Amino acid sequence: MKALILCAGKGTRLRPLTFTNAKPLIPIANKPTIVYSLEMIKEAGITEVGIVVNPDNKKDFEATLGTGEQLGLNITYIVQEEPKGLAHAVAISEDFLKDDEFLMYLGDNLVTVDLKKFVEEFNNENMDSFILLTPVEDPSRFGIAVLKDNKVIKVVEKPKDPPSDLAIIGVYIFKPVVFEAIKNIKPSWRGELEITDAIQWLLDNEKNVGAHIIYGWWKDTGKPEDLIEANRKILEQLKDSRNEGIVYENSSIHGNVVIGKGARILNSVLRGPIIIGDNVLISDSYIGPYTSIGTGVTIENAEIENSIILDNATIAHLETRLDSSIIGANATVVHSDRKPKTIRLVVGDYSKIEIPR
Ligand code: DAU
Repeated sequence: MKALILCAGKGTRLRPLTFTNAKPLIPIANKPTIVYSLEMIKEAGITEVGIVVNPDNKKDFEATLGTGEQLGLNITYIVQEEPKGLAHAVAISEDFLKDDEFLMYLGDNLVTVDLKKFVEEFNNENMDSFILLTPVEDPSRFGIAVLKDNKVIKVVEKPKDPPSDLAIIGVYIFKPVVFEAIKNIKPSWRGELEITDAIQWLLDNEKNVGAHIIYGWWKDTGKPEDLIEANRKILEQLKDSRNEGIVYENSSIHGNVVIGKGARILNSVLRGPIIIGDNVLISDSYIGPYTSIGTGVTIENAEIENSIILDNATIAHLETRLDSSIIGANATVVHSDRKPKTIRLVVGDYSKIEIPR
């Protein structure tokens, strides 16, 4: 079995972060989101992975993941010139997938499930397709499935009047018959070739579509607040502390905190769970729970919690605690004593700044 991860989206709701990095490469707890998925795929025994990228973000993926060797995978990049739909992304990957069964995964999803179990279920029950579902409160935002005796009898993409609350969460398994299905569907109202319509074609042609309902946590990391929540969930699972840096005596550490190589902590209070990358400097500061701090970050005289600070950012001399924030790579957030006492900003396109009254 091969795996296909779809990452050709533009990530517009995560601008400006997605101007410099593709959405699935944005780190959560200091690890690119897609790596969590790749690790799960590897655990399920799959090593041949195709990643569908767009012409603009291909180089970012290559720079971060390379050939996949470090993860024990063999990655092939497939360029989708325009985001014409999930089924279109599958169709252009036919040469890579050939006659194999494949696991398809949406690159912006963070799902913590035992994929191996689903692959086994798919094989044992001789299915043509298999989808993961979860109950949601707002079904009209998703592809929705209707089940009968554990078999899928109907699927519909983002229905105005949802026939069930079971959302398709972005993990699918297919036999090659799906290519025939895709050749037989038409673009939807949003102009995309929908994989949901291809699954409905399979159902209309008496193919077997199985499903598994999961109740665990999953997340479509579309918006900044989703990233903060995902970061919190991953850090909640941090089970121990590790210190490869230097913590000076006048600092104190509580709870689970991971500190990277060459990091220095001076005159500060750290209250975990926290992850701190290599070569970070934290001085005269308080770092609170659920904070991820990337490589080479400098934090001086500041208070931060429940936030994601990306590589090489600088945060200094803040009078107010930073909370639920994402600070991009190489960004600078400082208070200064400069006169006149004004706010001076150089803010990138689509940035969001909230200043307390
Ligand atoms: O999140 C689950 C939902 O994902 C499902 O419930 C829906 O049935 C499914 O259609 C999909 O809906 P979205 O509208 O959320 O899909 P989105 O356009 O956000 O694309 C999902 C991922 O696929 C994202 O990582 C970008 C990538 N993609 C998307 C398109 C349209 C591609 O690689 N190529 C594309 O052409």
